[in-house]
Amino acid sequence: MGMRVLVIGSGGREHALVWKLAQSPRVEQLYAAPGNPGMAAQAECIDIKADDIEGLLDFAQQNRIGLTVVGPEAPLVKGIVDAFRSAGLEIFGPTAAAARLEGSKVFAKNLFKKYGIPTARFEVFDDVSAARAYAATFTNQGQSVVVKAHGLAAGKGVVVAADQTDAEEATTRIMQDKSFGASGDQIVVEECLVGQELSFFAISDGRNFLPLLSAQDHKRIFENDEGPNTGGMGAYTNPPLYTPILYQRIAEEVIKPTIAAMRQEGCPYTGVLYAGLMITAEGPKVLEYNARFGDPETQVLMPMIKSDLLPLLAGAAREDLTGVSVELETGACVGVVLASGGYPGSYQKGKVIQGLEDLDAGTMVFQAGTALRDGCLITDGGRVLAVVCRGDSIREAIDTVYRETAKVSFEGMHYRRDIGRRALSE
Ligand code: AMP
Ligand code: GLY
Repeated sequence: MGMRVLVIGSGGREHALVWKLAQSPRVEQLYAAPGNPGMAAQAECIDIKADDIEGLLDFAQQNRIGLTVVGPEAPLVKGIVDAFRSAGLEIFGPTAAAARLEGSKVFAKNLFKKYGIPTARFEVFDDVSAARAYAATFTNQGQSVVVKAHGLAAGKGVVVAADQTDAEEATTRIMQDKSFGASGDQIVVEECLVGQELSFFAISDGRNFLPLLSAQDHKRIFENDEGPNTGGMGAYTNPPLYTPILYQRIAEEVIKPTIAAMRQEGCPYTGVLYAGLMITAEGPKVLEYNARFGDPETQVLMPMIKSDLLPLLAGAAREDLTGVSVELETGACVGVVLASGGYPGSYQKGKVIQGLEDLDAGTMVFQAGTALRDGCLITDGGRVLAVVCRGDSIREAIDTVYRETAKVSFEGMHYRRDIGRRALSE
């Protein structure tokens, strides 16, 4: 008999997970909480918020859910995995203690230091003047320095300061003005690494891991990485710098030691390990870990997984990936996010989305900020949807995705035209 699976979340990442799980012959019924109109095609959407742990647990118990898959980080950090496991339910993701790898930069950086996992040189401070003095050891030599709030700050708690004035301004904002609340009680000041950023995804059962792919996202709103940061404007898989040799180094120097360290610390890591890496002249160094899948990276990762996703997620949830394997597609996958005009600032909602019916059969659309009005799909958020295409090469995937994107429109629509372009120039 098939399994009943619940996916938690409402974004494009969760739509991609639902889309992939719907192809599994072992899935009998899919639910999404709270889901979105895109997911409704393959999953029954349940009106429970992603961080309502009690409500979700109740639902899972009453509906004989065999596996729950957590999309966003907030319920992980709040302990949804602990709660489900205590109730004897299988759930994909790390426990609250293991999710500190994302939720607490101080925990993560101290772990890297203790176990020799390569990362930027750093110190942790709870005192502004000491933080500034350490920052000056970099800025006095003309180097940039990075100032980070220790906890979750919606991706906005990191400042790359070009000089001491910027560094001091950042320490004030985080520690004295408490821009990020308690996330600013402690502060990490670290060396600014130089290189190319790469995201790497692996699935861990607490002892072993299976590698997925690497990807690069595009965080800024405008082409050539200009303008303010966003949740992500597009992504592509396996950039040219991700060679088999680089993979070996990431696996041996970063992923294996991290999984071993988490076990050693008494909080084995199960779920997806999303490593944000800087590929420096000396090799890969960890900028940060996320305890969840990336958004919009998941929208390009899922179409590249050829094998059934269910055994992989279920194996990690059961803390045993023995006998599970992952088969990947060859070629590349590119995703372009269509955003509302004005995003990431203020924008209007309720614009009718047109042209989706004209897309080729092989094109995937993963919805994020959408809603239905009188049976008509309308915009309902900043990042509205992603158009995703595969190709035999990155060039082919880029050409296809932009040909397809041109068919879609809504009033004020904005997207970047340079997703994946960096891969072509290498
Ligand atoms: P984080 O949330 O720690 O990944 O930081 C967000 C972004 O800030 C990263 O994706 C990098 O672009 C940048 N960043 C963080 N730490 C460093 C560092 N040590 N050196 C250079 N850039 C960094
Ligand atoms: N793509 C960035 C993130 O998911 O954090």
